[in-house]
Amino acid sequence: MITDTTVPAAPKTMIDWQKLRADFPILHQNVHGHPLIYFDNAATSQKPRVVLDALRTYYERDNANVHRGIHELSNRATGAFEAARARSAKFINARTADEIVFTRGTTESINLVAAAWGPKNLKPGDKILLTEMEHHSNLVPWQLLAERSGAKLVYLPVTGDEGLLDLSKLDSLLTREVKLFAMVHISNSLGTVNPVDELCERAHKLGIVTLVDAAQSAGHCPVDVQQIGCDFLAFSGHKICGPTGIGILYGRQELLEAMPPWQGGGEMILSVDFHKTSYKHAPHRFEAGTPDISGPIGLHAAMDYLDGIGRENIFRHDQELAAYAYDQLSRLNGIRLFGPKTGRAGVVSFLLNDVHAHDVVTVADQRGVALRGGHHCTQPLLRKLGTESTARASFYFYNTKAEVDRFVNVVREVQKFFAG
Ligand SMILES: Cc1ncc(COP(=O)(O)O)c(C=O)c1O
Repeated sequence: MITDTTVPAAPKTMIDWQKLRADFPILHQNVHGHPLIYFDNAATSQKPRVVLDALRTYYERDNANVHRGIHELSNRATGAFEAARARSAKFINARTADEIVFTRGTTESINLVAAAWGPKNLKPGDKILLTEMEHHSNLVPWQLLAERSGAKLVYLPVTGDEGLLDLSKLDSLLTREVKLFAMVHISNSLGTVNPVDELCERAHKLGIVTLVDAAQSAGHCPVDVQQIGCDFLAFSGHKICGPTGIGILYGRQELLEAMPPWQGGGEMILSVDFHKTSYKHAPHRFEAGTPDISGPIGLHAAMDYLDGIGRENIFRHDQELAAYAYDQLSRLNGIRLFGPKTGRAGVVSFLLNDVHAHDVVTVADQRGVALRGGHHCTQPLLRKLGTESTARASFYFYNTKAEVDRFVNVVREVQKFFAG
């Protein structure tokens, strides 16, 4: 069993979290007659004004296609697009911007690796190692690849409601047949923080390629691909204050260069004749067609904004809110809480006796509190834990302790209501 060793403890910096809320126009509204409490950040984050402004400025001033024109607007758009690639490399400490592929999000990043890396590197009898707490995005693409390649999926188990990986099983699972180990950094349904640097190190000793799903970590805590030592890492812009429709695939340069394209079209070619095409170097080889241009520009603004606050500070704030919410909820009778008791990220999943998660979420919505109920795209995990759904509150830096108090009161109300 493991505890969090991956995210360094943050030095205390005083930040006026309340003041940061002014940067988010959407937070200042009533929902069903109550001030909005947005606790669905694991699904998507809200966007600060600097990101909205960057998008607007791009469309009002610089909009043109990239890498194609030699006119002024196209040069500006291309410059901003490639500057966002360099900014993304810095955000996760990649060695070079060539290790950054723009995708639509985490899901597409993982599908890209499965489609481009998989067929060349897997044969029947090989294994892909996953954990039991993967999001469907880091599970279904590998199932599809396994069906095509004859490889088998194997899983590192989770230890029950506390939701830790059972590391005592790792040695027996990390065999020579395993060619890829794909793991989530922070679980979206449990809040578990996995020690990805240790997992990657142990896999690399056996020459196993590693992929980290950083959808819930990249915008919440410092993420350094060189320190983690992973070969691939994926995350989504929309979960880190950026726009929807843009994501990042980090790939170690040697691996990206050795991978064939996964989609064909304009932008990714060097030369095309009727029967043969030569391709650009990575990352451009993986970006066929006109890309999302405003997305990277908005993402650039989001990364600057987050690093202005400091992701170590954001993580401390997330953890404080989650620990407080967990503690307050655990005082209620008839509640089942999921995920680690200590060291959790900003996610708290729970079930109330005899109340369906969707009913909790529906009543909370009537009180202006946005939660999520369901399987959170982790059906195999929840089924292993003996349920089809949980209610989930997920926090970000613009949430406050006072909001947690109101949320806990709403949960109490739900209990009373359903107790008749
Ligand atoms: C852990 C994890 N992985 C992957 C994803 C998929 O992200 P996207 O839908 O942005 O591709 C999510 C989204 O909730 C997630 O929480």
